[in-house]
Amino acid sequence: MKGKKGIIFGALDENSIAWHVARKCVAEGAKITMTNAPVAFRMGKIEEMAASIGAVAIPADATSITDLENLFQESMKILDGKIDFVLHSIGMSINIRKAREYDDINHEWMLKTFDISAISFHKVMQTAVKLDAMNEWGSVLALSYIAAQRTFPYYGEMAESKALLESFARSFGYHLGKSKKIRVNTISQSPTNTTAGSGVKGFEYFYKYTQNMAPLGNADADSCADYCMMMFTDLTRMVTMQNLFHDGGFSSMGMDPSIMNS
Ligand code: NAI
Repeated sequence: MKGKKGIIFGALDENSIAWHVARKCVAEGAKITMTNAPVAFRMGKIEEMAASIGAVAIPADATSITDLENLFQESMKILDGKIDFVLHSIGMSINIRKAREYDDINHEWMLKTFDISAISFHKVMQTAVKLDAMNEWGSVLALSYIAAQRTFPYYGEMAESKALLESFARSFGYHLGKSKKIRVNTISQSPTNTTAGSGVKGFEYFYKYTQNMAPLGNADADSCADYCMMMFTDLTRMVTMQNLFHDGGFSSMGMDPSIMNS
């Protein structure tokens, strides 16, 4: 990671997956800026966390093109050059927060969910292209969840958000690959005990279920950060337009006799 410059979205507190990624990338020699929504600067610990690893935190609502333009421009100044890697680690659903059932969804909130959790990924990449803010052979990554492919009843419209997110990775992966040799992927992560994760109804029971179902158990935030970092290194420079499961094997399981009998 030495010499690489990155922008990491989505560190709210020490549990955030993005925080694990930020720490590891800096420890391995990368220079980064960290960012989150202005409200997270008031409620969370991003500034304190960024300072502890010598990084600058820049507020940006990921749904605002103006904020994103400022973020990329400031980051290029602070890091003294173009960006090599970007982590999109953003998710939010008011319907989930308010425990709305799937057949009683507020559609205004649904659109907000799509904007924050998925369309923001397109906005980030489009802004990077328009500002010519990324180096060739760069790597762009977002975090997803298997509800994009299979039904998880309490995940609300986040399921469709993740499907959209993964689709943006494939579509933009084509354009960025052709124009700049930049790769775009999503990592589909195990349930993880964070603010976003634990906000989903029944999280604790569900976490135990997938822990037992996955042959390796649930992948934690720290191992997710290892995988993210690998995707930013040159070792994965030919991997693009993929949704990569990081879930201890859960996604390949059909049934496990030990769970059936318990
Ligand atoms: P987290 O709650 O720590 O991170 C979510 C982040 O999104 C927060 O930092 C929040 O401030 C940020 N955010 C919300 N609205 C925003 C906006 N308008 N602009 C910029 N940032 C905004 O939770 P976690 O788990 O670290 O989530 C990171 C990613 O991982 C999300 O995409 C989530 O869906 C995904 N993921 C999480 C899993 C879990 O079980 N925790 C499982 C699979 C994927």
